[in-house]
Amino acid sequence: MSQQTIRFLLDERAVEVGFNDSPELSPTTTLLKYLRSLPGHKGVKEGCAEGDCGACTVVVAESGEDGKLVYKALDSCLVFLPMIHGKQVITVENLAVRKNNQVILHPVQQMLVETNGTQCGYCTPGIVMSLFALYKNHHEPSREVIEDALTGNLCRCTGYQPIVEAALKACTNHGKDQFSDKEKETSDQLSAICRNKSTLTLKTPTHTYLKPFTLAEALSLRGLHPGALVINGATDIAMRQTKSRELLTEILDLSAVDELKTWNAGPDGFIFGAGLSMEQLKKFAAGKLPALYDILSVFGSLQIRNLATLGGNICSASPIGDLLPLFYVLDVGVVLKSAEAERVVPISGFITGYHQTVLQPDELITALTGPRHSVGTLLKTYKISKRKNLDIATVSAAFRLNLNDGMVAGIALAYGGMAETTKRATLTEQYLSGKKWSRVVVENAMKIIESEFSPISDVRSGAEFRKIVARNLLLKFYVETA
Ligand SMILES: Cc1cc2nc3c(=O)[nH]c(=O)nc-3n(C[C@H](O)[C@H](O)[C@H](O)COP(=O)(O)OP(=O)(O)OC[C@H]3O[C@@H](n4cnc5c(N)ncnc54)[C@H](O)[C@@H]3O)c2cc1C
Ligand code: FES
Ligand code: FES
Repeated sequence: MSQQTIRFLLDERAVEVGFNDSPELSPTTTLLKYLRSLPGHKGVKEGCAEGDCGACTVVVAESGEDGKLVYKALDSCLVFLPMIHGKQVITVENLAVRKNNQVILHPVQQMLVETNGTQCGYCTPGIVMSLFALYKNHHEPSREVIEDALTGNLCRCTGYQPIVEAALKACTNHGKDQFSDKEKETSDQLSAICRNKSTLTLKTPTHTYLKPFTLAEALSLRGLHPGALVINGATDIAMRQTKSRELLTEILDLSAVDELKTWNAGPDGFIFGAGLSMEQLKKFAAGKLPALYDILSVFGSLQIRNLATLGGNICSASPIGDLLPLFYVLDVGVVLKSAEAERVVPISGFITGYHQTVLQPDELITALTGPRHSVGTLLKTYKISKRKNLDIATVSAAFRLNLNDGMVAGIALAYGGMAETTKRATLTEQYLSGKKWSRVVVENAMKIIESEFSPISDVRSGAEFRKIVARNLLLKFYVETA
């Protein structure tokens, strides 16, 4: 029997939503719109409806290992309601505790008051929620960690300094608060909801929303519903509704398929599940794959990285997808599965054009595989954008180099933002192969790069600027590796 309603905790309250008895709600109603439709939940705001401002930030808790809850800040404007099935949504209205007719603010709220961290107040509920997630996840965080937690929250008044100060002062108690006191009880409630693994099948006169919990079921549904729009984090897809006002009538949501969230790295190479979030990947890459870690450090914001997935990034096949240049120089394979078959396609063959791939209507990306490179391999990623954080790349690049006695024994150079897809600079690679890794040789190679690409001019930059950046990134790589 499939499940036809979604169940979650809203703050402390168990909620069940059946879409056929709530005409004002549909399965693609965003969490933001839902919350704002409720009495007493107007703290959450819509600023941009595209994941940029953080005014809509809420925190979602889900059951992790050993009954511990995992707290994540999310942009509620990009979350469809069924994505929170089996989770606890914590809103700004529920952070303070009421005791003996007194309101006791949560430590992050109290410190924000004491440091004068709010002025006009528009951003404040979102900032409070990002600080709350930080409080739950970090004890005495560094300034770098605090700034990362706040990257997805725009404030036009305070200049951020008092907010950072509030974070420094508040996060000193190992995340203890009224939520920790109830952790076991909450976790048990969520586990009880999640125990039912039959597919959520939400059908209304206008929408069909399918949310399977196993890979086998997801593949079967993909075969039965080839026209359904696949989503995982929905950070790309949700905007088709929130900004382009498109009616998304049939959705296959992979976000609850745990088999897509595994990873393995061993002597033969690595395999990453397509459903891993960018934040999970970033944690994995720390200390193991610095080039991946570096590019993920400038990927969106924490709220976006908590949602956005590896499979979504590859499948979007954007010429400025941040991870793609690295995957091109690593020659990764994309694992594609249908209910009947499995194939592995090299990434350069998977992406065939601007937002075009060879994915068939009955297939899903399940994983990415890559070889293990030799110890001496030099690997770097670069992203040039107008802002350092939460911005789209103007030009991005990944370079892989193996030297033997100062001579180029292996080289791969891939660029994003220079063509309609991510592209290797093959002529430049051929020129450099077997030559001495010297400044003179690299300066000659920089001239070849110019001839290999015909980038476009757009709002982000002119074509000439892109060419100069592409050349100079190679020089930067040389300086950093010579
Ligand atoms: C504010 C903001 C900032 C962003 N910043 C960056 C950034 O810095 N760098 C960057 O590269 N991108 C960025 N993005 C884009 C986006 O977050 C990424 O492309 C992300 O990885 C998409 O993953 P998702 O799971 O959210 O994809 P979804 O939106 O769920 O899906 C994207 C596409 O992939 C398909 N798909 C997803 N999973 C599968 C699967 N397993 N099998 C088959 N098809 C699948 C979907 O059908 C859809 O076509 C940003 C987006 C926003 C809104
Ligand atoms: S409304 Fe701006 S990030 Fe959601
Ligand atoms: S206090 Fe005004 S936008 Fe932050």
